[in-house]
Amino acid sequence: MAERIAELTDGTLFRIEPVNPYPTDYTECTDVALEERDTNARPAIADEVDNWEQYDTVFIGCPVWWWTTPMIICTFAESYDFAGKTVVPFCTYASTYRDETLARIVELTPDAEHLEGLGLSGRNTDDVEPWLRQIGIIE
Ligand SMILES: Cc1cc2nc3c(=O)[nH]c(=O)nc-3n(C[C@H](O)[C@H](O)[C@H](O)COP(=O)(O)O)c2cc1C
Repeated sequence: MAERIAELTDGTLFRIEPVNPYPTDYTECTDVALEERDTNARPAIADEVDNWEQYDTVFIGCPVWWWTTPMIICTFAESYDFAGKTVVPFCTYASTYRDETLARIVELTPDAEHLEGLGLSGRNTDDVEPWLRQIGIIE
C-alpha cells in the first residue's frame, strides 16, 4: 500500500523499522505485540527521516495489530513535529478495527491537519488511486 501511494504521489518512502526486529513467526509476533500494547511501550525506531521540514504531507500507515496501531507508530508520531503538516492515515488489516486504527493515527498527530484515510484488507491496491483522487492528492 505504501509503495502504491509513493508511486502515485511521487513520494518518498520511509520504513518505520524497529531496532529490535519482530519475530517472523506469526504467533510469536502476536505475543510480543500484545505485550507492547498492554505496557504502552514505545519501541525504538532504527532510522530517522531526513529533512523532515521539507515535507508538507505525511502518509502514516501500518497493519492493524491487536485492534489498533503497532506501538511503534506512537514512537513515530511522538518523534516528529507535525505542526503545519497534513497527515493521511492508511492501514492494512485482516478483518477488524480498520476505522479505529485510522482514527488512532489521527489522534496521535493532533497538531496536523488530516485527510480521510484508507484501510485495505488483502494485497489488492486498486482502491488506492481513486482514494487519492477523492481526497485531492492527485488529479
Ligand atoms: C500482532 C498482530 C495482531 C493483529 N491484529 C489484528 C486485528 O486486531 N485486526 C485485524 O483485522 N488484523 C489483525 N492482524 C492482521 C494484520 O493486520 C495483517 O497481518 C496485516 O494487515 C498484513 O496483512 P497480510 O498478513 O495479508 O500481509 C494482526 C496481525 C498481527 C501480526
